[in-house]
Amino acid sequence: MSRAKISVIGAGHVGATTALRLAEMELGDVVMVDIVEDMPQGKALDLMEMAPVVGYDVSITGANGYDDTAGSDIVVITSGIPRKPGMSRDDLLATNAKIVKQVTEEVIKKSPDTILIVVSNPLDAMVYVAHRVSGFPRERVMGMAGVLDSARFRAFISMELGVSVDNIHAFVLGGHGDDMVPLAKYTTVAGVPITELMPPERVEALITRTRQGGAEIVKLLKTGSAYYSPAASAAQMCEAILKDQKKILPCCVLAQDEYGLDGVFVGLPVKLGSGGVEEVFEIELEDGVRDELHTSAGHVKELCDKVHELIEI
Ligand code: APR
Repeated sequence: MSRAKISVIGAGHVGATTALRLAEMELGDVVMVDIVEDMPQGKALDLMEMAPVVGYDVSITGANGYDDTAGSDIVVITSGIPRKPGMSRDDLLATNAKIVKQVTEEVIKKSPDTILIVVSNPLDAMVYVAHRVSGFPRERVMGMAGVLDSARFRAFISMELGVSVDNIHAFVLGGHGDDMVPLAKYTTVAGVPITELMPPERVEALITRTRQGGAEIVKLLKTGSAYYSPAASAAQMCEAILKDQKKILPCCVLAQDEYGLDGVFVGLPVKLGSGGVEEVFEIELEDGVRDELHTSAGHVKELCDKVHELIEI
């Protein structure tokens, strides 16, 4: 039996950290691709030289072209520019739409049966670009956002209550922007909803911090955006697929009549297994929350319309 192959496009902060996580988890062989000459090769070699110390047993290679990515089981797209302080994710649209289009075209030539996980921002619109360009079914095109946003929410709850992150389950749905929708009712500590564990104003404060979680990091880093947590989140999605775990994770997916949404990419709870997105779960939402989800999806739709003014897809 051959090992799985995961290609990571863009070997910058998120891409290289994703490669590291994938190697540490021994999920398969990793190929990193970047346009910067020699850089992905250098990072791949560095990671190979880390293997004897840490003990992972996979091959990691770097390239400036796509030949080595042929036959990938999963391709994680992280290529594109990150935010700088004061920028919204939407400000990246024009640059990253072109990059994601070009990358997707190259990727699918070599790996027509692969599963695409997009990380580049603005996330939901970039997944839309990858979907249009690849022509793949929704099962094989998804975006990483909800796992990260939920992880941020979990981290803040853990800090607030002084309990292990392990005990905290959280769900954040909607687009990966300021209007994302953290679901307080379905966010629990050892099974108890957080709404029963803290006053409403604290729940609201943590929701606001979660919505601005990316910007909080950008403000601190000053030169780019978060990468440890985004990389770990993308690797978790790869694991769920490669191990056919059937894990329920919030992912950006094409809604097809779920939650009253149709034809728009937005964060929803999905079951991830070897087939990619195997199912979209519909959970009951209170009216206000459902409205928030629709507002967020409307914003994504506007961005996707803008994409068509920028590139031909
Ligand atoms: N093909 C391949 N790689 C590309 C291309 C391209 N057409 N265009 C840019 N890249 C590479 C850059 O050379 C760079 O090495 O993408 C990499 C991006 O890395 P960083 O600048 O370090 O950005 P990073 O923090 O990794 O964020 C990447 O993920 O979370 C999102 O918002 C973030 O859109 C951003 C993306």
